[in-house]
Amino acid sequence: MSDIYDVIIIGGGPGGYNCAIRCGQLGLKVACVETRKTLGGTCLNVGCIPSKALLHASEMFETAQNDFADMGIKADVKLDLKQMMAAKGKTVSGLTTGIEYLFKKNKVEHISGYGKIIDANTVDVDGKKLKTKNVVIATGSEVTPLPGVEVDEKTIVSSTGALDLKAVPKRLLVIGGGVIGLELGSVWRRLGSEVTVVEYLDHIMPGMDGEVQKQALRVFKKQKMKFELSRKVMGVEKKGKALTVKTEASTGGSPKDIDVDVVLVCIGRRPFTKDLGLEALGVAQDKRGFIETNHFATNISGVYALGDCTHGPMLAHKAEDEGVAVAEIIAGKAGHVNYDVIPGVVYTAPEIASVGQTEEQLKEAGVKYKKGKFAFAANSRARANHQTDGFIKILAHAETDEILGAHMIGAHVGDLIAEVALAMEFKAASEDIARTCHAHPTISEAVRQAAMDVEGWTMQS
Ligand code: FAD
Ligand code: NAI
Repeated sequence: MSDIYDVIIIGGGPGGYNCAIRCGQLGLKVACVETRKTLGGTCLNVGCIPSKALLHASEMFETAQNDFADMGIKADVKLDLKQMMAAKGKTVSGLTTGIEYLFKKNKVEHISGYGKIIDANTVDVDGKKLKTKNVVIATGSEVTPLPGVEVDEKTIVSSTGALDLKAVPKRLLVIGGGVIGLELGSVWRRLGSEVTVVEYLDHIMPGMDGEVQKQALRVFKKQKMKFELSRKVMGVEKKGKALTVKTEASTGGSPKDIDVDVVLVCIGRRPFTKDLGLEALGVAQDKRGFIETNHFATNISGVYALGDCTHGPMLAHKAEDEGVAVAEIIAGKAGHVNYDVIPGVVYTAPEIASVGQTEEQLKEAGVKYKKGKFAFAANSRARANHQTDGFIKILAHAETDEILGAHMIGAHVGDLIAEVALAMEFKAASEDIARTCHAHPTISEAVRQAAMDVEGWTMQS
């Protein structure tokens, strides 16, 4: 067999490993280069999976403390943080070794080391030159730093440090009211921290549907999370073990110091393409470092890019879909990703989920739409489960009734959003969901009721 690979993928995260496995399935000679000890990238090692493990465990802890008695369950609940972290670690290692297995099964060569592109047909891995017909860049992203706030991963942490704290901080300050701030802020609040979120804008979760943003803020405040909106962090001073966070109004002035024990910096992520050889090769990047692509192809023939290091939402499933599409394109098939139907989920309690366009976007684009809404308080299963916070909103075209978006806050909406995403893929009308029989009593009936409300025949009082 020739020594020349059909494809070398740099990066073994969701984008890279899905691309590699699909290449293997399609009979291509493929290698995946990963510098981290384990496969799975940010998502499996220090992102989606460990955060969801801690979100689940901390939610169980809070539920046991606050809701068990009400349901007639008596329990003496105590936190064993070391064991909670160990359980998280076990989940992560189980999944990362699972990818090793999938690589072997699909004949993907896993090469450990740092990849650098020498030219469109040569990748250097720690001094060894490998020849290939195609290169795929799937190097992901890294934390955006905040000037004046130096991350030491002990008391001033990024998400990586926040997933591995050795003790529950008495006071945690989160810089950035986005997805990471709300998810990891929720974890530590449930475990006992006093959590304050400092957000530059006057609202949390930028880009989400406005009604969902407002409801989420109300619920998080009810859960005793504190918010300092329209405020920016100017710096952090260390005083012994404690930290003083210097803040100002976003528009300047009105200084306010906040004393805390741990600071979490999560103001977004930026593409990671360090020492990849992009400049020498002439791969086009925008001002913020995102690799420019046209249907996944960079401006250099035979070099593709996907996932967090390219434009679009920084989400694991977006990277995965792109990975599969790129493999199929290289194999001569019609790889495709529908960017209009990429769901987003925030795994707080209640969960928050979204797909398609928001009301704000539709208004701005001048699209005439109809709206259906249903509150979880009117769903019988939600009431039986004591999970009545939230609502589901479905937006449909005023004339054609095609579903244009869905925005949800409530228990299990991270799973419910898939129904609407599937409907949208099939270009369904809201009436298609409204007339589909849903099992009773289930939370999914709330989706149907919201769809029924688009034409005003919901069974909500
Ligand atoms: P990555 O997963 O970042 O993988 C890139 C890999 O490339 C890394 O392993 C890196 O070591 C390797 N690499 C980089 N350069 C080189 C090189 N030159 N040579 C060799 N290897 C290299 N998304 C969701 O959809 N759902 C979630 O619940 C979710 N939770 C998250 C929670 C946190 C705390 C964080 C930080 C992120 C979360 N994300 C979530 C985002 C998700 O992790 C990313 O969108 C996803 O990992 C992007 O996949 P990727 O393959 O593009 O890059
Ligand atoms: P984010 O973009 O979600 O939120 C960052 C927040 O910080 C924004 O609200 C922004 O207005 C604010 N901000 C920016 N600069 C600031 C400043 N100087 N002071 C105060 N606030 C400031 O980014 P985050 O939370 O860091 O997450 C990074 C990415 O990781 C997300 O974009 C998301 O794609 C991904 N992610 C996805 C998850 C999921 O799908 N459940 C979970 C966690 C992360």
